[in-house]
Amino acid sequence: MLKDKICIVTGGAQGIGRCIAEVFAAEGAKKVFACDMNMDIMSDYENRFSNIEAVELNVCDRDAISAFVTDVKDTYGRIDVLVNNAGITRDNLLAKMSEKDWDMVVDVNLKGVFNMTQHVSPVMIENGAGSIITMSSVVGTDGNIGQTNYAATKAGVIAMTKSWAKEFSRKGAQVRANCVAPGFIKTPMTKDLPEKVIAYMEGKTPLGHMGEPEDIAQAALFLASDRARFITGQLLKVDGGLVI
Ligand code: NAI
Repeated sequence: MLKDKICIVTGGAQGIGRCIAEVFAAEGAKKVFACDMNMDIMSDYENRFSNIEAVELNVCDRDAISAFVTDVKDTYGRIDVLVNNAGITRDNLLAKMSEKDWDMVVDVNLKGVFNMTQHVSPVMIENGAGSIITMSSVVGTDGNIGQTNYAATKAGVIAMTKSWAKEFSRKGAQVRANCVAPGFIKTPMTKDLPEKVIAYMEGKTPLGHMGEPEDIAQAALFLASDRARFITGQLLKVDGGLVI
């Protein structure tokens, strides 16, 4: 479904981002740049997929992003898909949330998405096509106790995405922007949650279990592909019915 496409996935070292990079590579992408700060977990990538390239990139580092995007453009002449997947949590009740934890989550989850999209979208607009997919969360639509910072960023990316859907297509460019809102997914981000929290969340999910990274990757694949060519500005919830 992604034959010949040049794709960038942030937070590609593990969890959802890693699965997206692998699914995109398996679906025929010409090149998938799996970008992350954590290069330890990236080491076996290139042995298994000749079309995945692990790139050390912090989504908060605007100079590094600029150099990376220029490099990709100079080499391939285009970027077809950007997946803004990198994200972190620093949870606490509002009364106890430090300014540092607020700033850190906003810097990565919100400004990091701004940084990447601001650099990549001109390449897509110039080429007249592209698909930008940003990981939101059900917490971005419904909120959650202890996640004021995270909820703000995940709601923020939905509004940015809707703005981009309008802005990037102004001169006829088929540059689409959409969000995916995962529910409760088995990744390193959720692995340390207490059993009782997991049981509670699974109980609230109509399909009765946590999702797999593959469930999110398949949604991202669809939005990235030309099969979703008339879909832009949307939020696709992939949550087993958790938020209806
Ligand atoms: P994860 O913690 O397993 O993986 C996140 C990856 O992002 C890590 O490899 C990490 O090194 C990377 N990363 C963190 N900061 C970075 C930075 N500044 N620059 C580049 N890379 C950076 O997380 P998971 O679960 O795979 O989540 C992926 C996305 O999906 C996140 O945006 C998360 O908020 C979202 N999400 C996850 C849910 C879940 O249940 N796991 C639910 C809803 C949303």
